[in-house]
Amino acid sequence: MRVLVTGGAGYIGSITVAELLARGHDVCVYDSLEKGHRDAVPAGASLVVEDLAGEESVEKALKAFKAEAVIHFAGYSLVGESVEHPEKYFTNNVVNGLNLLRAMRRAGTGRIVFSSSAAVYGTPERVPIGEDHPARPINPYGESKLYFENILNRYHHAYGLDYVSLRYFNAAGASEEYGEDHEPETHLIPSVLKAALGQAGSVRVFGNDYATHDGTCVRDYIHVSDLAEAHVIALACSGARVYNLGDGKGYSVREVIEAARGVTGRAIREEAAPRRAGDPAVLIASPEKIKRELGWAPRRIRLDEIIESAWKWMGKNPKGYRC
Ligand code: UFG
Repeated sequence: MRVLVTGGAGYIGSITVAELLARGHDVCVYDSLEKGHRDAVPAGASLVVEDLAGEESVEKALKAFKAEAVIHFAGYSLVGESVEHPEKYFTNNVVNGLNLLRAMRRAGTGRIVFSSSAAVYGTPERVPIGEDHPARPINPYGESKLYFENILNRYHHAYGLDYVSLRYFNAAGASEEYGEDHEPETHLIPSVLKAALGQAGSVRVFGNDYATHDGTCVRDYIHVSDLAEAHVIALACSGARVYNLGDGKGYSVREVIEAARGVTGRAIREEAAPRRAGDPAVLIASPEKIKRELGWAPRRIRLDEIIESAWKWMGKNPKGYRC
C-alpha cells in the first residue's frame, strides 16, 4: 500500500515507517521536523518537510505520492504543556488534523490510522480500562485526541472514511536503529536511563503516596515495536474502529527504576518529588478487543526487555539524534 505518514520522523513514527517498509509498503514521511529528526527517517521512505497548517501542501503531497492511506502521528503530546498552552494543542492536534482530513477528501485518500492516547479516558473509574470506559479527558492534550476521534467518526458516517484510532498506553523502548529523543524529555524510562548514563544526577519520583502497592504510579508500558506492528495491521481494516494498545499489566515507578538498575548495572539515584498534576494513580489497558478482532498482542512484554532495548539505543546514541 502507498502510505503517507505524518510525524514519521518522530519516535513512534520512525519505527512504524521502518516496519511498513519491511512489510513491502511504499512510504512518504510528511513531517515539519519541529519535533522529529531527519536522521530518524528510514532510507527507503521519501520525506516532505512541511507542517499541516496549510491543507494545500499536504493535498499536494497526497496527490503526488498517490497515497492510499495515511497514518497520522503528527501532533503535540505533552500533558503539562497542554494545560499551559491549550490553544497550541487544539490548533495543532485538532485544526491541523482537520486540514489533513480535508486534503484527504480532495485527494481521494479514504483510509487513516490515528495516533490516539489513553489520555482520552482521564482518571479511570476502573482498571483495566476497556474501550467502553467513559472518555472524560482531564487535560487539553487528552481532549484534543478525543475531539479528533469524534471528527473521524463523523467523517466515517458522512463521507465513508475508514479509520482506526489507536489509544496508546505508555510507549517505551527502542528498535535497533531508532529510539526516543525528546527535548525536553519528560518520560519516565528515558529519564531513568539518563540518570544511569550520568546525564542527570538523579531521577525524580513524582509522588509516593498514591493508593498503589508501593505508593508510586502504575503504568502499562508497551514496546514501541509492538505499537508499530499494530499500525501496520490496522492499515488493512475498514470501517470505524477504536482500540487500546497496551499489555494489560502495570508497573510502578519504583519497579521501573529497580528494573533499570538491574538492566544497566548502575546505581540510579532517586529523589522524592511532589505529585505531578494530572497523573492518575493507575493506567492499565484491557487489550482484549484488539486481540480478539485483529489478532494483535504485544510480544516484547517483559519490563527488563523493554528497558534493555532503550538502554542499548541510548548507549549507541548518547546524544540521541544530535550526534
Ligand atoms: N514519572 C516520574 N519521574 C519522571 C517522569 C515520570 O516519577 O521523571 C512518573 C509519572 O509521574 C508517571 C509515570 O512516571 O506516573 C509515567 O510517566 P511518563 O511521563 O513516562 O508517562 P505518562 O504516563 O505521563 O504519559 C503517558 C503518555 C501520554 C499520555 C498519558 C496519559 O506518554 O501521551 O500517558 O495520562 F497522555
